[in-house]
Order: sequence, then structure tokens, then C-alpha cells
Amino acid sequence: MTQSKPEIIPAILSQTIGQFQEDLQKLINSKRLSSGWVHVDFMDNQLVPNQSILPEDLQNVDFGNLKKEAHLMVKNPLNWVKKLLKLGFERIIIHLEANQIRMSLKLIRGAGKQAVLAINPQTPVEKLDEFAAEIDRILVMGVHPGFQGQVFIPETVARIKKIKSFNWPVIIEVDGAVKDRNANLLVRVGADTLIIGSFLINGNPDENLEKLTL
Ligand code: DX5
Ligand code: ZN
Repeated sequence: MTQSKPEIIPAILSQTIGQFQEDLQKLINSKRLSSGWVHVDFMDNQLVPNQSILPEDLQNVDFGNLKKEAHLMVKNPLNWVKKLLKLGFERIIIHLEANQIRMSLKLIRGAGKQAVLAINPQTPVEKLDEFAAEIDRILVMGVHPGFQGQVFIPETVARIKKIKSFNWPVIIEVDGAVKDRNANLLVRVGADTLIIGSFLINGNPDENLEKLTL
């Protein structure tokens, strides 16, 4: 097993734009995270049992120097993709469990942006195979998507190993319940990028980042 320094991306999941801006401001003010990426969670209450802010809410939001990655936990992503491209999102994640997959991936890549497929804990990883040539990254969920602060599903580790063994030319992200306790192991088995919500965002992100031993 190889290990190189992973990329860390903070995640914001919020129901109100007020909460969103509060969390975003923490990242803009952060010494170590302000010029990286931010992972913005969107939910439609259909693919997952929760809802979030909408792309429209972000129209006048200043992201500072942060680059934007959208995680679309929505059943029909196509219209969301169109709106997020207009908002300047550089990377868009849609779910393997959603509709309109091919059309959405095409639209994202056609716009010169990065396309990512996310896979839920219960979905066999082999199902990614038919899309492997059409994506830049895979996002492996470490929880059932919809909420921050959940408990990590241990089988995720074996799922990352298996995806790694396919040798697809893609970057592997892991999202959901990543924290000091499991970060190192996830990187050792093949995760290139760690998406981290509550562990980084609650409190002071710079101080929390210090606690991650990688
Ligand atoms: C979960 C979201 C995650 C979440 C991560 O459905 O997709 O991105 O915000 O938050 P934590 O790290 O608290 O699980
Ligand atoms: Zn997410």
C-alpha cells in the first residue's frame, strides 16, 4: 500500500443560507484552507431524506479564493448541473443512484469542468465500471448520505481497496464521517482526497486540521 499526502476538502451542508455563510466565512478566514476547495452539499429530499440550500441561494455569495465542488444528492441532477455551471462550480459530483447520469456527466465535461460519480454504501462498486472512462473522480460515501456528524461505516475501507484494485485512472475521494480516527487508514488503502464536514467545520477549522494525523 502506498501513502502520499492527501488533499483535504472541507464540506458544508446547510439548510439555510445564513448557516451556509457562517460556515463559509470560517473557511475564508482560515489560514490553511482559504485558498483550497470547498465541498458544497445539495439535497432534494428525494434521493436523500433531507434538503438543503438551493443553487439560487448562492447567486450573490462571495467565496473568496475558494474553488467550488458541488455534491448533488438529488434524484434528477441535470437542471442542478446547469445552474451550478453558471455559478462557476469547477467540479460537480452526481450520484450513481440518480437519474440522468450520462447526460449530466457529458454536460459537466463539455463545459470543461470535472465530473465525479458518488456511490452509496449499499451500491456494488462494480456498477461504476461502465462510467469509469467518463469521470475524473469517484466519491465513496462513508455514510448514508444526507446528514453531517454520522457514524463511519467500516466496510467503506474494503470498498476503497476494491475500487483501487480496478486501476481506473480516477482520483478517489471519500466523504462522510472522516475524522482523526480513520483519516490515516483511509489514505493508506487508497483515498486521495478526504472530504471532511463536522470534524473540521465545528469550532475552528485550523485547530481541527491540526488534530488530523496523516
Ligand atoms: C453527507 C454529505 C457529506 C457531509 C460530511 O451526506 O455528503 O459531505 O457534509 O460531513 P461529516 O464529515 O460530518 O460526515
Ligand atoms: Zn458531500
